[in-house]
Amino acid sequence: MIEMGSGTGQTSVRLAEEMPTTEILGIDNRATVTEVSRNNAKKLGVSNLSFETADMTEYVKTVTSLPEMVVLLYSFHHIPDPLDQKVDFLEDCFTALPEGGHICIAETFLKNDARDTAANRETQIRWANRGVEAFASTF
Ligand SMILES: C[S@@+](CC[C@H](N)C(=O)[O-])C[C@H]1O[C@@H](n2cnc3c(N)ncnc32)[C@H](O)[C@@H]1O
Repeated sequence: MIEMGSGTGQTSVRLAEEMPTTEILGIDNRATVTEVSRNNAKKLGVSNLSFETADMTEYVKTVTSLPEMVVLLYSFHHIPDPLDQKVDFLEDCFTALPEGGHICIAETFLKNDARDTAANRETQIRWANRGVEAFASTF
């Protein structure tokens, strides 16, 4: 299993703990956070987990194959617009995934029409505070 955009590794650590017989790889394009991840995993004694510094959009172009499960938790929206770049990334994942493989993308999705006054207050506040992220994630 691979987590792309693993940040400081909290999700990867949890996945590794939940599935001790599965090898987990976390990748993030910031060397500082992969170093933090490695240290955290070491401190916690999680041995079925490793981290690499890599740009996920480049990574999926260069690997010949991906593990059966690819996880992106709040990282997919970081692939910058235009939209084609997200589509290219997904196509590259699809090419490298084994048959029957899965991509699990978890994001906050806000409806595009939620910016108008009919939307409930909570949704409007989210659009106001995290609109760029929400928009980038919604397509
Ligand atoms: C909100 S954090 C995700 C945290 C992590 N998934 C978790 O559950 O703890 C998003 C991460 O994606 C990483 N990221 C952004 N663009 C990336 C890219 N092109 N390739 C790899 N990682 C990227 C950022 O450095 C950041 O650490």
